[in-house]
Amino acid sequence: MKEQSKILVTGGMGFIGSNFVRSVLGTRPGWQVVNLDALTYAGNPANLKGLGPDAASRHTFVRGDIRDTALLLKLFFTHPFDAVIHFAAESHVDHSILGPAAFVETNVLGSFRLLETARQRWAETGSPSGFRFLHVSTDEVYGDLGPEGAFREDTPYQPSSPYSASKAASDHFVRAYHRTYGLPALVTNCSNNHGPFQFPEKLIPLMILNIVERKPLPVYGQGGNVRDWLYVLDHCEALLRVLESGQPGETYNIGGGAERTNLEVVHHLCDVVDRRLGRSPAQSSRALIQHVTDRPGHDRRYAIDCAKIRRELGWVPGHTFEEGIDATVSWYLENPAWVAHVRSGEYQKWMDQNYGGRDAAG
Ligand code: NAD
Ligand code: TYD
Repeated sequence: MKEQSKILVTGGMGFIGSNFVRSVLGTRPGWQVVNLDALTYAGNPANLKGLGPDAASRHTFVRGDIRDTALLLKLFFTHPFDAVIHFAAESHVDHSILGPAAFVETNVLGSFRLLETARQRWAETGSPSGFRFLHVSTDEVYGDLGPEGAFREDTPYQPSSPYSASKAASDHFVRAYHRTYGLPALVTNCSNNHGPFQFPEKLIPLMILNIVERKPLPVYGQGGNVRDWLYVLDHCEALLRVLESGQPGETYNIGGGAERTNLEVVHHLCDVVDRRLGRSPAQSSRALIQHVTDRPGHDRRYAIDCAKIRRELGWVPGHTFEEGIDATVSWYLENPAWVAHVRSGEYQKWMDQNYGGRDAAG
């Protein structure tokens, strides 16, 4: 990537996208960012509020849908992009179970239209070898792991949920566009993130906020499912390495090396939040845990083998699990206005829809 670069970020008002935009504007002073986001329930302009004047002058927000080919063509004609970093997606497994169609629309069709527009413009402008299309994907495409082993870049795809199936489809298209047309595209598959600006439908922010408010903590099934947690800014750093130094056509797995069962995560969050709020051990929030009906098709375990990105690009996570969680908890405790805003509107409807029908698990 050149010192003066213009990049298109899709989904830059969501959780990881907004952290990435902040990282780029903060660490790459010559870069300009065009941020295309449809502002679904998960997209929030407040995630990029308070940028300093220099950063704000290098950031352009466009409200729009990645399925809108006419808009994409207009953007690609107006801006000679050096790279596309594609975050925009429907991203929540539970939502995909209750309404899979939106996942096909955005994750499959939207990704295809974005890719096809990028390819057309890339070809029409002389197929510059420095162009990059970075597709941000998930480890969930690999499916379920037993107690041993970890996902490698050559692990076969075996998605379990409509979410992971739709992400798998988009990954395949990206790889096909490299192989067939030579588009300089890369794919990253990352494990579960946590950190600032994550919508509180996902496990960690949901639990932090419920612990603060002393609400029930709904753990699906027995809570033995394992995820490999990564602090979001470490993910953003890995994405920048892949963008700047990765090999087109390659896939890079990214993970935290921090496997925990859901119950371990919730216990840890109870202890950290209780301590911050000065609660005594006798008032432990662990007593709020409720085991509820399990998620259908719930993957038992994810774990990432990060050897390739460490070896080839020198990336390792900058935070341990405990350091990352401390930072995430601090952020949620220090940003009550952001929390109140995202929990107004549709949020309560989602809580009723997802949790209302779950009974206590035996
Ligand atoms: P998110 O749900 O917080 O944000 C998604 C963003 O995309 C939102 O701002 C939303 O408004 C936007 N968007 C949705 N549909 C759109 C459309 N049709 N057109 C334009 N914009 C649209 O998601 P996230 O957690 O930030 O995840 C970002 C990407 O990273 C996703 O592709 C996801 O699959 C991937 N990923 C997420 C995690 C994780 O733990 N959150 C882990 C690995 C990979
Ligand atoms: P989530 O944050 O939704 O991410 P993903 O499904 O992409 O891994 O969930 C993380 C884990 O936490 C997953 O095993 C499901 C579980 N979980 C609960 O036990 N209770 C909850 O209320 C939520 C949202 C998730």
